[in-house]
Amino acid sequence: MSDNVKPIPLIIDCDPGQDDAIALMLAMASPGELDLLGVSAVAGNVPLALTEANARSIRDVAGRPEIPVYAGCPRPMVKVLETAEYVHGKSGIDGANLPQPSRPVEQAHAVDWLIDILRRAETPITLATLGPLTNVAMAIVMAPDIVENISELVLMGGALSLGNITPSAEFNIYSDPHAAHIIFESGLKLTMIGLDVTHQARANPARLEAIRAIGNPASNSVAGMLDFYGAQYIATFGEGAPLHDPCVIAYIIRPDLFTGQDMRVDIEIGSPLTIGRTVCDLHDRAGRPANTHVVETIDSDGFFDLLNESLTRLPGIN
Ligand code: BDR
Ligand code: CA
Repeated sequence: MSDNVKPIPLIIDCDPGQDDAIALMLAMASPGELDLLGVSAVAGNVPLALTEANARSIRDVAGRPEIPVYAGCPRPMVKVLETAEYVHGKSGIDGANLPQPSRPVEQAHAVDWLIDILRRAETPITLATLGPLTNVAMAIVMAPDIVENISELVLMGGALSLGNITPSAEFNIYSDPHAAHIIFESGLKLTMIGLDVTHQARANPARLEAIRAIGNPASNSVAGMLDFYGAQYIATFGEGAPLHDPCVIAYIIRPDLFTGQDMRVDIEIGSPLTIGRTVCDLHDRAGRPANTHVVETIDSDGFFDLLNESLTRLPGIN
């Protein structure tokens, strides 16, 4: 990046989760490209008490203890919380082998902080959402004016084709479809990175060994997480853990690695069979205005080069 390009002001909302953790490391290792203003945690892969603590452990291993972490909503808006320990392990980041976090969570509720920082922003802020959309939707319900100060929301969620938690739905959207409905109706500039894309970014054995070979504490932690998390995926989806959430951060840093197209996307919130489905109007059958840039392809080698370069920069905690 050239010297006169300013880092993009960014907030990450997440539910770590091994792939969220790797996304946080990628962002925290990229201060030239991203001005990471803070991290908000939400319940999702595991309960909130674990997701927020995991985010704090990650900022330690990334050598960025100054980045504030806020705890947000402990459950979805309407549905009951359905966590995914069968994928992520009891802690959410099994395999990471990290010590307890060095600093406490911030006192403010994440939703209050989101409203406050967005209202005070002198330049619009980019939001990266890596988990259920509860925190951001709640903030928009409470303070609709904040939409003006969000330059773009890039989300990991949904799919044009396959589902993972059900045959038709992806985990983040399925977990809180009512929050997702609010976001997709909000008028925000939205970019959706769904399973069709993230399943192209797989840590196959050669890529995993390249990460392990970096050999610093952060990359050791990533390799350990991918060993654990990859094993859960291989049984259902074939070789190599898909790096869902890091694709969002990579897109914000290097959009040239991705292609996609604008279309209408609506969220199914009624049908028990397909709840949480992102209904993508690829061929404009409904004639409704596009509300989402749907990403379709990733240069996966370019993505892993970016990730490995970033991990090499991290100092770690040893
Ligand atoms: C998404 O759900 C979680 O399992 C991952 O962290 C990712 O955000 C993939 O469907
Ligand atoms: Ca996630």
